Amino acid sequence: MLGWRKKRAPVRLVDDKLRHIAFIMDGNGRWAQKRGMPREFGHVNGAANFKRIVRYCGDIGIKIVTVYAFSTENWTRPQNEVNAIMKLLSEYTDMAADEMDVHNIRYRFIGDRSVLSEELIGRINRLERDSEKNELLLNIALNYGARKELVSAFNALAMQGRANITERDISEHLYTAHCPDPDLIIRTGGEIRLSNFLLWQAAYAELYFTDVLWPDLKSSDIDEAVRVFYSRKRRYGGI
Ligand code: IPE
Ligand code: IPE
Ligand code: MG
Repeated sequence: MLGWRKKRAPVRLVDDKLRHIAFIMDGNGRWAQKRGMPREFGHVNGAANFKRIVRYCGDIGIKIVTVYAFSTENWTRPQNEVNAIMKLLSEYTDMAADEMDVHNIRYRFIGDRSVLSEELIGRINRLERDSEKNELLLNIALNYGARKELVSAFNALAMQGRANITERDISEHLYTAHCPDPDLIIRTGGEIRLSNFLLWQAAYAELYFTDVLWPDLKSSDIDEAVRVFYSRKRRYGGI
């Protein structure tokens, strides 16, 4: 008899109101430390969960997912932690190259890639090129900082000798020029801040903060964030 099984709430399929979710994947280090393990162990489990969460977003009809994987400030961490994260990213690009068509993911990396290892830059470039025809857009923010992004947009516009710069000009010179702004930003790990993530693009995003540490974030937590999103009234300054 299957009747004992607790019925799951039906998964809410999203519509055009919620096309783009961005995640600040925070709390990996604390997740590991709670288990008496090195922080790197948290990043390994965080990376595994990231794959699950992206697939789940695709399953419920999200068209664009952006994840904050490594910030311009994260280089200040101990070298062994930085190395571990870069190794995971490199392994991830390898796996992604094999599986991108299975999950129908189109990859874009946002951030300054020029300082990464030549090997990683090559993998990233190939992944973007080879996944171009897929549908679920996944932006991975790597060596990303919103202020750096804005400064390079302003410099690019200045180099063109442009006067009377518009909002549209700025948006078109950001790393995210290829996609609409996020509708919903979810931060795990309990901190209530943006930590230099998508400062321009977040102007009218709905913000959702949860204490759940990133490696523990489950599909039901996404369902809850989606439910909260649909319960809010986005007024954009109107009434
Ligand atoms: C987020 O988790 C992952 C990265 C910043 C790369 P943290 O490593 O910041 O984990 P906590 O916040 O220290 O727990
Ligand atoms: C933000 O998390 C960056 C990423 C999730 C990649 P941090 O852990 O670096 O942010 P702070 O230091 O708590 O602001
Ligand atoms: Mg953190």
